[in-house]
Amino acid sequence: MKTIVITGASRGIGRALAEKFLNEGFFVIGTSRSGEAEYSHENLMFVPLELSQVESRKTCAATIQALDKKINILINNAGIWHPEDEAQTIDVAVLQETLDSNVIGSIDFTEQLLAHNLISEQIINISSRRGSLSFTTTCLYPNYGISKAALNMFTRILAARLAGKVIVSSVHPGYVKTDMNEGEGDITPQEAANDIFALIAKRVESGNFWYKGEIYPW
Ligand SMILES: NC(=O)c1ccc[n+]([C@@H]2O[C@H](COP(=O)([O-])OP(=O)(O)OC[C@H]3O[C@@H](n4cnc5c(N)ncnc54)[C@H](OP(=O)(O)O)[C@@H]3O)[C@@H](O)[C@H]2O)c1
Repeated sequence: MKTIVITGASRGIGRALAEKFLNEGFFVIGTSRSGEAEYSHENLMFVPLELSQVESRKTCAATIQALDKKINILINNAGIWHPEDEAQTIDVAVLQETLDSNVIGSIDFTEQLLAHNLISEQIINISSRRGSLSFTTTCLYPNYGISKAALNMFTRILAARLAGKVIVSSVHPGYVKTDMNEGEGDITPQEAANDIFALIAKRVESGNFWYKGEIYPW
């Protein structure tokens, strides 16, 4: 049985991904800040992870390592969009908080799993078109956009480092009806999860940014 780690699997896109991979026969290790979720399955376990806290990242990675399972796939899905990002200006405190979770947190967590040689097949960083230098021509959501652009650079750097071993991709999931958007969006979390599952199954060329199975401009 293959194993996948999905951060932020308690709700939204992460939960839909977890349910999709469970249906496809995977063992799923999900994370949430509390370490709990409102659904269960015999092949699902939850581990607490607060991405902005170094100790939480260390404990979560150590807990996963202690399971002594090879992780086939890691999806760095958990992320925040700070409500004050509506202000369209860069408030350094908001930027710091956004970077702590979306960039430093996801990078450190990934590096800790890699340091123990745990990830064998693919790493997916759930990014956003807001992090695309081509898409972003407005001042909307600057802190979030900067964080996702940085996450995209992590994808490129990691893809080069792990070339021939692990496929590393960034994905824009679409405009998805989740809590982050207060339920607004064009597609359901399940539709986004199906697209991401299909991309993973295709074992695409490493080091690219994807949206609906097509390469998206950085
Ligand atoms: N929705 C969209 O339209 C959209 C578009 C582009 C990109 N994205 C990206 O897709 C990903 C998932 O978004 P979503 O819409 O599903 O969001 P969501 O509904 O707000 O869910 C976020 C998930 O991340 C976890 N989380 C939140 N803050 C965290 C933190 N500081 N540390 C660790 N985990 C944390 C939450 O778990 P708990 O609260 O239970 O801890 C939850 O499981 C994010 O990276 C987001 O930026 C979303």
